[in-house]
Amino acid sequence: MTRKITANLYMTLDGRGEFPQYPGSDLPSGKPGEPDEFFQRMWTDRYSDVTTVIMGRRSFTGHRQVHSLEARKPGAPEFMFDYSRFLERVDKVCLSHRLKRLDWANSRVLKGDLGKIIAKVRAEKGGNIIIEGGPRLIHEVIRLNLADDYWFLVMPVVFGRGPRYWDSMKTQTNLKLLSATAMRYGELVLHYEAVREKTASKSR
Ligand SMILES: NC(=O)c1ccc[n+]([C@@H]2O[C@H](COP(=O)([O-])OP(=O)(O)OC[C@H]3O[C@@H](n4cnc5c(N)ncnc54)[C@H](OP(=O)(O)O)[C@@H]3O)[C@@H](O)[C@H]2O)c1
Repeated sequence: MTRKITANLYMTLDGRGEFPQYPGSDLPSGKPGEPDEFFQRMWTDRYSDVTTVIMGRRSFTGHRQVHSLEARKPGAPEFMFDYSRFLERVDKVCLSHRLKRLDWANSRVLKGDLGKIIAKVRAEKGGNIIIEGGPRLIHEVIRLNLADDYWFLVMPVVFGRGPRYWDSMKTQTNLKLLSATAMRYGELVLHYEAVREKTASKSR
């Protein structure tokens, strides 16, 4: 069976790859000790079918610093330990031209043409794949239409600065909305499926 590729992305309303503070952002949205809707849908629900997580270098090192089992602080909710255990056991691909050592179990570095990397990983034996993206990586994934589906967490902030997901692209990409959920503090969790046929954009 083909390995399904899901891209996860986190952005402000103006498409910035930032994690700003906003009313409620430091409060749990889920029940005490339980993951909120976005964490549940993007991660917890996927633990049994996903065996590979692909990250850009910055996302990889950020996750290692905060979410590796070694980094997990005692007293964190059990679901965060589950997340660390999941990240520990999956095959982790770090995209980088410069990193040689990764210092995290089950991880490897790949570099070069993203389309070829994704095709190579997809052809390997394993379960489904998550691409955990910063703006530059996700921009390429969308531009090349590499993922089968996308989970967006959209935060209720027009941030006004920082790296953008949506720099110009030559063609438009159509996505089919599968679900949309508003969370307690105004975040939207959006699930889209890829539409493979591209529609040529018309100039106005
Ligand atoms: N999920 C997330 O982690 C996330 C979400 C939203 C926002 N952000 C924020 O976004 C910022 C980082 O954004 P970003 O898009 O630059 O992060 P990123 O995708 O995690 O990392 C970008 C790096 O990945 C490497 N890379 C990407 N494609 C490659 C390829 N085909 N071959 C080899 N290396 C490749 C390059 O590393 P080398 O320089 O080593 O070659 C590149 O500099 C951070 O400030 C972060 O906080 C992160």
